[in-house]
Amino acid sequence: MSTITNICCIGAGYVGGPTMAVIAQKCPHIKVNVVDVNPERIAAWNDVNLENLPIYEPGLAEMVGESRGRNLFFSTQIEQAINNAQIIFISVNTPTKTYGKGKGMAADLKFVELCARQIASTSSENKIVVEKSTLPVRTAQAIKNILDNTGTGVKYQVLSNPEFLAEGTAIQDLLEPDRVLIGGEENPEGKNAIEALASIYANWVPREKILQTNVWSSELSKLTANAFLAQRVSSINSISALCEKTGANIDEVAKAIGMDKRIGDKFLKASVGFGGSCFQKDILNLVYICRSLNLQHVADYWEQVKTINDYQKQRFADNIIQTLYNTVSGKKIALLGWAFKKDTNDTRETPAMYVAKELIDDQAEIHVYDPKVTKQQIINDLEYLGVDTQKNLHIHSSPYTASEKAHAVAILTEWDEFKSLKWEQIYSEMLKPAFIFDGRSILDMQKIKQIGFKVYCIGKEPMF
Ligand code: NAD
Ligand code: UGA
Repeated sequence: MSTITNICCIGAGYVGGPTMAVIAQKCPHIKVNVVDVNPERIAAWNDVNLENLPIYEPGLAEMVGESRGRNLFFSTQIEQAINNAQIIFISVNTPTKTYGKGKGMAADLKFVELCARQIASTSSENKIVVEKSTLPVRTAQAIKNILDNTGTGVKYQVLSNPEFLAEGTAIQDLLEPDRVLIGGEENPEGKNAIEALASIYANWVPREKILQTNVWSSELSKLTANAFLAQRVSSINSISALCEKTGANIDEVAKAIGMDKRIGDKFLKASVGFGGSCFQKDILNLVYICRSLNLQHVADYWEQVKTINDYQKQRFADNIIQTLYNTVSGKKIALLGWAFKKDTNDTRETPAMYVAKELIDDQAEIHVYDPKVTKQQIINDLEYLGVDTQKNLHIHSSPYTASEKAHAVAILTEWDEFKSLKWEQIYSEMLKPAFIFDGRSILDMQKIKQIGFKVYCIGKEPMF
């Protein structure tokens, strides 16, 4: 394989955009084309005002500003980009299927298949095709079947190179990854293709962190990593329920177990539940694969991770209703935070929307403040759940107006700014008794209690 000087990425989303921005910065000798079917998204990536990029990630705008127009390009010219590229990354969405066989469980691979067909019909020279999207184990076989049956004589190598970045820390994760995983065929052509891709990463990632495996191990490792991470969150969240009943404090328990090196201290923060586009989707996908392969016990085991997560979201909303004297009908409740975690504007599967729906179903008046999520996004999320947003939803640009005359405030995202709000002022402007439900355990309960609030904090005995 000759030196790589031209690559393209199909899919300008949360993964494609930041990943390619980092490659472009670290490899100025490589022309990087990011293409997408969505013209508005591409226009936003090309916006002269870097604040209007379609994705908010700390450090992303600066990085795009540095390379865009030099060796980083965003466009809708998909065929041209495919034809010019030596390596093509497929970084399109792989959501849970909403129809037909595997509905609600399996990953919908139609966008990936469309990419494979487009590559097959467009390419006139040999290509390396890289699975960047998270895919069920053995998808590379399906991609290869499509590519190898075009009759054009073009040869393809399909690699699996899953992405492990987390939103909110994407740039940092990409600059200093724990590892880069590349799976390929175990023959000389496969090894050459792996080396071509590895040589790109080697521009900034130490060689010992670039792991090479067979394709199936790589595909399955990605699903397994997300399942293990989600399992930790569900594990600590299950214990948070027990803490609330026993006087134990979840933060103290997490610290105590996390100091055991075998357990480790990461991913032990109790919460209102995990959200994001991937944990739930990937667990469902894993469960579906296990069931398809007749591995019932394995499927049942992993399904519990999602069951506990659903329970945690429901439990949080139920607790608000129960505490506010068994009804929130006509009551004003301020929701602070809508994003599924801090430092992102992504709201996919955010626990906030499920909590809001539950409260609106009980006729609450919901007042939302989030520093990065747009009003339209909040409306879209609730309409997706079938909620009538005309009546009971109000969106604010300040946490203070959101909580004015409220019966209760619920913290649903751990934005740093919430820790240093003027809680005395908020208290004085709320109805009494004034309740706080901290779904992220970010407040100092004692201090908040001293102001006069009735406080519930996930994983701690309530101070009512
Ligand atoms: P996304 O929805 O933000 O972006 C996907 C993009 O692909 C969209 O802009 C869409 O218009 C485009 N697209 C779809 N079909 C296309 C086609 N045929 N041709 C051209 N463009 C097309 O998704 P994302 O969050 O970037 O996730 C992409 C993949 O990466 C998923 O498989 C996901 O599981 C995985 N992943 C995501 C994250 C994350 O943090 N979001 C992290 C690791 C892995
Ligand atoms: C997750 C993984 O961390 C990434 O490695 C992976 O690449 C990505 O999924 C993916 O495949 O999409 P992400 O969903 O962006 O990344 O964010 P996380 O930091 O993992 O958080 C996921 C959810 O779990 C959030 O709602 C977060 O608030 C919650 N969480 C996380 C907790 O409640 N407690 C924790 O201790 C950690």
